[in-house]
Amino acid sequence: MKALVKRYPRRGIWFEDVPMPEVGVNDVLIKVTKAAICGTDMHMYKWDEWSQKHCTPPYIQGHEFVGRVVEVGAGVRNISVGERVTAEGHIVCGHCRNCRRGMAHVCENSLSVGIFGKDGAFAEYVSIPESNIVKLRDEIPDDFAAIMDPFGNATHTALAFPLLGEDVLITGAGLIGTMAAGICRFAGAKNIVVLDINPLRLDIAKRMGATLTVNTAAGETLDSAMAQLGIKGFDVGLEMSGVPDVFNNMVEHMYKGANIAQLGILPSDTKVNWSDIIFNALTIKGITGRRMWETWYQMEQMLLGGFDLTPVITHRFPFERYQEAFDVMESGQCGKVLLEW
Ligand SMILES: NC(=O)c1ccc[n+]([C@@H]2O[C@H](COP(=O)([O-])OP(=O)(O)OC[C@H]3O[C@@H](n4cnc5c(N)ncnc54)[C@H](O)[C@@H]3O)[C@@H](O)[C@H]2O)c1
Ligand SMILES: [Zn+2]
Ligand SMILES: [Zn+2]
Repeated sequence: MKALVKRYPRRGIWFEDVPMPEVGVNDVLIKVTKAAICGTDMHMYKWDEWSQKHCTPPYIQGHEFVGRVVEVGAGVRNISVGERVTAEGHIVCGHCRNCRRGMAHVCENSLSVGIFGKDGAFAEYVSIPESNIVKLRDEIPDDFAAIMDPFGNATHTALAFPLLGEDVLITGAGLIGTMAAGICRFAGAKNIVVLDINPLRLDIAKRMGATLTVNTAAGETLDSAMAQLGIKGFDVGLEMSGVPDVFNNMVEHMYKGANIAQLGILPSDTKVNWSDIIFNALTIKGITGRRMWETWYQMEQMLLGGFDLTPVITHRFPFERYQEAFDVMESGQCGKVLLEW
């Protein structure tokens, strides 16, 4: 079969003929129809410091996808050939302390499809354990099903704290931040302010439901946004840029007693004014992955309720034209980029 392989430990990704994946006794073989390129795929493509530390080529990339089941292992009980599915990309052990107390998203031993420990879905076929398969209701279109992994990051972060009637600040209008703006609107937030430096992405945030956008590269400020809205600070912060100055800007503009959900991956030497956190009694919660499986139930319900992800998908390419897809991702002049067979 054809696949996009991280073949060598250097910049790039290689379109190759590779053997079909093995289908273990508890595995489900899926014929991939669409996949999406994630920020993590770009880290691996550029072979940055993070990938050098976590990834071991060769392996097939890709963890955001949708497809149809074409084969099931002898031990598979709940999935049948022909079903349309996607999957949770974190394969967890099921027996560590966290798995056993319902916190599998922080499993001690998890593998990550298309990142480490398990070949991914930038391929004609992918093999996934039955435990990770998510069946799809007919009402959920393929385009949205293909991006449920990052939609899940957005959902997990956005719903980390109560939103109804709250003033929310989202920093970073990337793929995840723009989806989060829509989720906050769906969940009944009062004002949703989204901050970024990229006008194209702020425009997507607007279309997803942001009340106001702040382009700091154009000199716009949170102070003027707050004055316009008549508020003294934000009740909930969703930090989705991973940029230290942006995080500090958020901390400075939170209302006393506010909550911050931190998804953006800040550098380990990020400095913050601790007094702002302590004396303003802020709570900061780190977010990783998606809760298994509450986040998936929440996503399904939003999609069945008419939640529209159309504005975040800006490009699509056949797999063979993967280089153009990676180029447009690298340019930042895009929302979500899909690869299709
Ligand atoms: N914790 C997790 O499990 C997890 C999972 C996925 C992604 N992430 C992280 O979450 C963050 C968001 O992911 P994404 O896929 O949406 O990334 P993304 O790159 O699409 O979005 C980041 C956004 O931040 C903006 N930005 C960059 N510098 C800025 C600045 N100085 N001021 C304002 N905005 C700035 C960019 O324009 C971009 O729109 C990233 O840091 C990513 O690494 C974490
Ligand atoms: Zn992803
Ligand atoms: Zn575990």
